[in-house]
Amino acid sequence: MRKAALAWVLLLFPAIGQAADYQQIANMCVACHGSTQDSSFPSIPNLKWQNKPYLVEQLTAFKSGQRSDKTMSKVAQLLSEQDIEQLATYFYTLNHKGSQ
Ligand code: HEC
Repeated sequence: MRKAALAWVLLLFPAIGQAADYQQIANMCVACHGSTQDSSFPSIPNLKWQNKPYLVEQLTAFKSGQRSDKTMSKVAQLLSEQDIEQLATYFYTLNHKGSQ
């Protein structure tokens, strides 16, 4: 019984760690893009209403250098493909919660 409980904790911990990591990354995005996805800076686009495939495509383009911006290119280079997928899902879900 104890062993089973320990196995569960070990299984769950990496998942918890990952969720916290990407939440931290999301907080960084929000610092520029705004917490309601309405950016308060004229030079920073709103992420609001963007769909998930678009977000993935733009972040991948920044990462690969296909699209270039002095800030976003640096930000995107820090992200793994998995981060991009999770962040796109996060912002997409956030946007759709906001519209309900
Ligand atoms: C230091 C400020 C800053 C941070 C931090 C930042 N961004 Fe950006 N982001 C920008 C700017 C500026 C642009 C506009 C770039 C351009 O004009 O091409 C942009 C553009 C984008 C775009 C393209 C939007 C469009 O309409 O095409 C996406 C998607 C995006 N950012 C997502 C993110 C995500 C996800 C994060 C967090 C990992 C993030 N950004 C963090 C400043 C920032």
